[in-house]
Amino acid sequence: MKIHIKSPGRINLIGEHTDYNGGYVLPCAIDLSIDLFFEKKSIESYVETDLGYCMTFDVSTAYKKSDNHWENYVLGVVNELKKIKSELSNFSCVIKSSLPAGAGISSSSALVCGLIKGLSNLNEINLDNYKIINISRNVEHKYIGVLGGIMDQFTILNAKKNMAILLNCENLESEFIKLGFQKYKLLLLDTNVKHNLANTEYNQRVSECKESLQIINKFSKKNYSNLSEVNKIQLSLSKEKLGKTLYKRVSYVLNENKRVIDSVKFLENNKLKEFGQLMYESHFGLKNDYEVSCKELDFLVEYTINYDEILGSRMMGGGFGGCTLSLIKDSFIVEFIELIKKEYFFKFRNKLNPIIANLDQGIQMSLI
Ligand code: GLA
Repeated sequence: MKIHIKSPGRINLIGEHTDYNGGYVLPCAIDLSIDLFFEKKSIESYVETDLGYCMTFDVSTAYKKSDNHWENYVLGVVNELKKIKSELSNFSCVIKSSLPAGAGISSSSALVCGLIKGLSNLNEINLDNYKIINISRNVEHKYIGVLGGIMDQFTILNAKKNMAILLNCENLESEFIKLGFQKYKLLLLDTNVKHNLANTEYNQRVSECKESLQIINKFSKKNYSNLSEVNKIQLSLSKEKLGKTLYKRVSYVLNENKRVIDSVKFLENNKLKEFGQLMYESHFGLKNDYEVSCKELDFLVEYTINYDEILGSRMMGGGFGGCTLSLIKDSFIVEFIELIKKEYFFKFRNKLNPIIANLDQGIQMSLI
């Protein structure tokens, strides 16, 4: 018996860097995925990918960090599952992917969730989605070193086709929002920029937010459990204590949370222009206040402002590279892609990778 897991990538309409601050996000799954094919093996485990990587190991050996970054995803998942069931079976796993890595569409979480789902089923370990989210987060924090939130995993596991998930990342309450973009489509432009400090800078934002929360709690004598609980009055009272940088970070988080809620209202009432405006505001908040953008992302977003056929655009995901998300008129896509590819190459001598984001359901499992 073989198990096939189809683990999708995710986009996020709006609500960036709010998940680890207990805020709101509005993500969806897309039709690009990582496909994993598992089978039990008696002697040795092996994992191979369509990028030509291959690893062999025995599941009973103790975890030892690998110098090959991607191998730690596999070894981390095996190690975490062994804490639940000590005797795991050896296995083979063949991985094929249509999801570009490092583009900000969550190939890491798609891989980790896919591995957990496949290996837990192969070994008859019963895990609900909340447990998978926890294990996945542990793997990414402990073995990969990125202190990410839960937006990616929640989306990959729960998404429904043509719906966005309005998720409260503090209590994990969620609501599906039906999407209809009429004559518009969601276009991703992958910068092909993989900033090697991205993980460090991401973790630095996480710790800046923690520090801000401590300062606000100390001086307001409150006990907020995350930044999304802080109100604007409290923030302005703490302005001096926070200093310029932390004040900007917190302002961004509060504004972005409001933008998510406003976006839902606009999307539910087919007010795409107004939603697009919030996408731009989100981008400029990420650029100027949260400082996680880069010149390539800024160029792509600012370029779209010249066109009435594009209602909104913003950087998406962790930042420092990856891609932008734009809401663009269907009939303008081909012409625009041709234009922006040329301009991008002319300016940065780098290839731009356009992807039309078709919305799809969450993770799927089948027996073959
Ligand atoms: C990455 C993380 C997510 C989230 C986004 C930013 O994708 O994995 O948890 O923090 O960045 O919104």
